[in-house]
Amino acid sequence: MNLLLLGSGGREHALAWKLANSPLVDRLYCAPGNAGIARDAELVGLDAADHAAVADFCKAERVDFVVVGPEGPLVAGIVDDLEAAGIKAFGPRRAAARLEGSKAFAKDLCRAHAIPTAEYARFTGAAPAKAHVRQKGAPIVVKADGLAAGKGVVVAESVEEAEAAIDMMLSGGLGAAGAEIIVEECLAGEEASFFALCDGESAIPLASAQDHKRAFDGDRGPNTGGMGAYSPAPVMTEELSRRAMDEIVVPTLRAMKAIGAPFKGVLYAGLMINAQGPKLIEFNVRFGDPECQVLMLRLKSDLVPALIAARDGVLKSFDLRWHADVALAVVMAAKGYPGTYAKGSAIEGLDAAAAVEGVEIFHAGTKAEGGRILADGGRVLDVCALGRSVEAARERAYAAIEKIRWPQGFCRRDIGGRAVAGDAAGQS
Ligand code: AMP
Ligand code: GLY
Repeated sequence: MNLLLLGSGGREHALAWKLANSPLVDRLYCAPGNAGIARDAELVGLDAADHAAVADFCKAERVDFVVVGPEGPLVAGIVDDLEAAGIKAFGPRRAAARLEGSKAFAKDLCRAHAIPTAEYARFTGAAPAKAHVRQKGAPIVVKADGLAAGKGVVVAESVEEAEAAIDMMLSGGLGAAGAEIIVEECLAGEEASFFALCDGESAIPLASAQDHKRAFDGDRGPNTGGMGAYSPAPVMTEELSRRAMDEIVVPTLRAMKAIGAPFKGVLYAGLMINAQGPKLIEFNVRFGDPECQVLMLRLKSDLVPALIAARDGVLKSFDLRWHADVALAVVMAAKGYPGTYAKGSAIEGLDAAAAVEGVEIFHAGTKAEGGRILADGGRVLDVCALGRSVEAARERAYAAIEKIRWPQGFCRRDIGGRAVAGDAAGQS
């Protein structure tokens, strides 16, 4: 069969690598892709925002199945439009993608169905929002309702900081995404990413993973899309996985079905874990990036039948197999990320790095020019490795990074550090 994958990041490179490995796939296209994805798929210059153009391409090239990577096209309803044109697609329809597209929608759903999450209130006016913040005190969290490319959440340490965030969002600092805001309780605990493959009615949990959101070592610096990840995540015990399914994922699927918006696709629950168990920080309606990279490295089963079963609503008795090895991903980003950064610097040594045992390099933001690979984004490369332990995977990933010559880039040196510390604590 022929597949089209939409997206251009490290998540999509990992998906392309895995999909290309399936014996079911004849041709794999990716739009727009990047220089690394070009090794696994044929790149197509399509704009995912132009749903009609995507549908036309699928008909012309006899594409049987479309896999949508990022949230933007999902929230914009690309699955609705492709399915209406007779093309099967993986991912939630517009009405179900609201779980990520509108934080107010997701919070109201949690409240109505007793799904554990932070207490919150919704506001469209600055004065009542600030009065609420003064009454609750800091720390407190201010969030834009809509999609804001990772800039929509401010964890405020003081009332003044929260008030500044309220003013910024409600005065249009994030565009339409901030026309409504949520002010919520600040949760304490350890964060984990929980993923479930969903078919509208049933769900199967994927392997556990954890990312590192802050830019610099020791979890310092600004929030980013994610600077590294590892799987499995020791914090996510079997008992916690079961609770996340029973208390969060299953009730959400039931609620979405009841309102006529069944959720099909990957449901990504960002969790805060503390003594009371898992609480939902937020939903995403897609694979995490870079969590997807470590999950794809560990997935033994063919991904294609699993995605099709989710789309067809027949996941119930499906089974996914995982390698026992640990997978770890270190993100190499352009200096300045997540703020302003330059594009176009050359990256060398990639072949030598990829030759390190157990290493797989996914491209997150690159382009090819005159035989050279150039940086073309904030997050640029994901240097991933499998190993028997977190330490072994870590050693391999950083050994590969030593071989990459790219002075304009940086990475964190402590990816997986928490899991290592956790292992040590567990053994002592
Ligand atoms: P998001 O971009 O929505 O994933 O949020 C960014 C980060 O903000 C999360 O990964 C958390 O670290 C933090 N965050 C969001 N909501 C809360 C909350 N209610 N309590 C504590 N931290 C939060
Ligand atoms: N790694 C966080 C995300 O994909 O949103």
